[in-house]
Amino acid sequence: MTKVALFLASLIFIVTYGCSKTDDITVTPSTTTTTSSTYNELWIPPTITGKTFDLTLAKSSKQLRTGAKTATYGYNGAEFWGPTLIMNKGDFVQMNVTNNLSETTTTHWHGFHIPAIMDGGPHQMIEPNTTWKPSFEIKNNAGTYWYHPHLHEKTFQQLTYGAGGLIIIKDPVESALALPRTYGTDDIPLVLTSRRYNSDNSFTVTEHAYGDYAMANGTHDAQISLPKQFVRFRILNAETERGYNLGFSDNRNFYVITNDGGLLDAPVEVTRVKLAVGERVEILVDLSKDAVGASLDMKAYNANQEFGFGGSEPQTTGQFGSLLNNKDFNVLHIKVKAATANAITTVPAKLTTNTYWKESDATNTRTIKITGGQAGSAFTFDNNTYGFTTINQNVKLNAVEKWTIVNNNIFGHSFHIHDIQFKIVSRSSGPIANYESGWKDTFYIRTGETVSVVAKYDDFASSTNPFMYHCHFPNHEDAGLMGQFLVTQ
Ligand code: C2O
Ligand code: CU
Repeated sequence: MTKVALFLASLIFIVTYGCSKTDDITVTPSTTTTTSSTYNELWIPPTITGKTFDLTLAKSSKQLRTGAKTATYGYNGAEFWGPTLIMNKGDFVQMNVTNNLSETTTTHWHGFHIPAIMDGGPHQMIEPNTTWKPSFEIKNNAGTYWYHPHLHEKTFQQLTYGAGGLIIIKDPVESALALPRTYGTDDIPLVLTSRRYNSDNSFTVTEHAYGDYAMANGTHDAQISLPKQFVRFRILNAETERGYNLGFSDNRNFYVITNDGGLLDAPVEVTRVKLAVGERVEILVDLSKDAVGASLDMKAYNANQEFGFGGSEPQTTGQFGSLLNNKDFNVLHIKVKAATANAITTVPAKLTTNTYWKESDATNTRTIKITGGQAGSAFTFDNNTYGFTTINQNVKLNAVEKWTIVNNNIFGHSFHIHDIQFKIVSRSSGPIANYESGWKDTFYIRTGETVSVVAKYDDFASSTNPFMYHCHFPNHEDAGLMGQFLVTQ
């Protein structure tokens, strides 16, 4: 065949049979970039607003690739994931979570400052066909939070099936700023993860660190049309172990405006932001200078990351392999369309005034070491695997504590503390990035690194109900890289 005939034949093949992601990968010539020629519209989760939030978790299914549908979990009938809950700081909310699965689950309100018994950790089990009804005051700052299952030894599997959702908290400080906030139009929820498939198109739910196909809001090869103005993304890393080194395909600058626990003092201008599992950032990106019809990609610039960065491994298969490992890959294809009325076209110079804890504020200190992990053994804290009835740390109510996490270990992790928001006060690897200088509940700890964080453990004491601290890699947490602390009078 001539070249022209070959080209035509392949065009006919694509038109006839479509172009699945698998096809794309085999025909992509570049070794460092995975791109796609076909896209699917980014799914925008529906929202629930008000003071009463009814969630029902059930089995579902979704057409995610060519062939059979994939068995999934979703809240409120979603094919994967769940609705975005929109709450106001200061409101007293009633949560009604019904479990329509045939297995137990829990629902954790990640990042929330609430009583331990309302927290939805491993102890607040929701048995099949029952409804859990916690209620609490929203004390957190405006920002992006999330909910997800937290049943010990089941978190990885239930998350992998798709159980989870975003929470947006609003407050008067954030509302007074000229920021994009039209959900789905210029304020875009973006949940980043990846999945691996078995040959029958079911998700692989036996232990593995990385998916093979990038997914945004439960959509592979996702694209969205966005208006020619400043657009806000609320980004969650909902992976198993993979970190994201996010940026745009033309290396344009963008602005980080929040960390896990709310607004930074001022926008931080970057070209890349690293996001470990469980972390959130809200960013602003300027599309006002792009032509209508132009396109760009948000990408994970994950090629050539440091040793221990989740997804830096060279292998493409096996427990620590992935088709996305050590590669730059697309997370979202963006097409620019006309601006909306009342478009935001500038970045506020100032966002809020936070009063952060300093190292010298600490009234107590403690050190937690990441141990284990040798020769295939599970990771542990201080050589203790998670014990359901073990209290690992006792914190006095109203103590300001410095927790120092030591990772003299072979891999990076994502460390999360329930109950509070903290300030990162030191990293042994060097300076703390400006983009992680705000209130945090989760942080990346590199291999060989020691990180200290300071928080006040206020408001909620209980001598019986513990809070969790753990690695947010759900497979590590399930395997025992989790501990419990009590806050007592
Ligand atoms: Cu996102 Cu212990 O949780
Ligand atoms: Cu870990």
